[in-house]
Amino acid sequence: MGNGQAIFSAETLQALREPVLDNARGLPASVYTSQSFFDLEQASLFPKTWMGIAFDTDVPKCGDAIPLTVQGLPLILVRDNEGIIRVLQNVCRHRATLVLDEPCEALTNFKCPYHGWTYDLQGGLIATPFWDGTPGSKSIPVDPCKNSLVPVRCHVWNHVVFVNLEGTAPDLLNYLEPMDRELSHLDIDCLEVGHRQTWDFAANWKLVMENWEVYHHVWVHEGVFDKMSDEVDLGSGDPYTDMIADGNTMMLRANDRRPPIPQPVEGSSGYLPSIPRKWEPDGHTSAANAVLPNTTVTIGAMAYAPALYIPIAPGVTQARMAWYFAPGVIGENCFESAVNGVLDRWLGPARKLADRRGIRPQDHRCMELQQAARSSPIADDVKFSTTWEQNVRYFQHWVVDQID
Ligand code: FES
Ligand SMILES: [Fe+2]
Repeated sequence: MGNGQAIFSAETLQALREPVLDNARGLPASVYTSQSFFDLEQASLFPKTWMGIAFDTDVPKCGDAIPLTVQGLPLILVRDNEGIIRVLQNVCRHRATLVLDEPCEALTNFKCPYHGWTYDLQGGLIATPFWDGTPGSKSIPVDPCKNSLVPVRCHVWNHVVFVNLEGTAPDLLNYLEPMDRELSHLDIDCLEVGHRQTWDFAANWKLVMENWEVYHHVWVHEGVFDKMSDEVDLGSGDPYTDMIADGNTMMLRANDRRPPIPQPVEGSSGYLPSIPRKWEPDGHTSAANAVLPNTTVTIGAMAYAPALYIPIAPGVTQARMAWYFAPGVIGENCFESAVNGVLDRWLGPARKLADRRGIRPQDHRCMELQQAARSSPIADDVKFSTTWEQNVRYFQHWVVDQID
């Protein structure tokens, strides 16, 4: 890990590290807008982390494969013939052609469209037809050890496919251990996907992670979080949410001060079976969870909603989100309107980002406004509330620490 000394000015680092949070200052606007800082992140930050890039349900059956682009790299996500999810570099080892250019089902191998080199679903080279002029190409064998599709280190956790491009990060379960521990009582693996949605928005990826606070709720989420008295004790100023940052994770966990939130009861129109539990936890479970740099997993009583934020350009991020429900919910008529209610709350009734209704369109619109403001030098001077925004500064420190 570097300390960012070569990239950030001494004044910037000193202001960021100011012990009294109300007196601290955040990172300058250029880290959100400049191509050179974006390039630096692409080269120095993301490859050594675990990035969420896809969902296991993107390739539900053996032989399913989709092409993906991550960090500008063409990749293949595949579920092999044993049901194991793999990520491979999507580059033929003969003369570098994309091996897979569209989603496919029921594959038994990958065949390069240029000269027919063939790879099994684990990426192993199995045929180089007519390399020596004969169909079996036996006289000039091509060594599969040196010429198979290059694997990318990957791990599936709670339906999210993570990759570590550099290959040297700690094991994923170690990397996100505080989050794994927080959610360990929930049987997330058994959940079934109900909806997936992908969209681009015009803001830097870091603004997503800097949104890991609840101060914005009543201002941004009209119709969803409408009362500040639901967020904080208005007399004492003590929030009802603990803001937790630990290692590569950040969480927003309700505390014991929060008044209980009524949930739909069985038989009522909004009712859905809750996420099954392996055991009852001692206290509250964090609802809003971030695995740095680019993955979030939200736990509601009735749905699990992971989201992946793929940086496309300094001012463009792609969001890939999915909603998972308890077994037996999806496809059951009696739950259809409650499932739609969950999706309405997240995405608005039209399911369109431009509608600016629903939690995610509202958040992303606000991030676009933050991004636009960062073309002004005034945006170099940002402040943090001690009451609400310790996670925001934690994340900014984390970014500085990652940059060599
Ligand atoms: S480039 Fe793939 S077989 Fe020639
Ligand atoms: Fe929000």
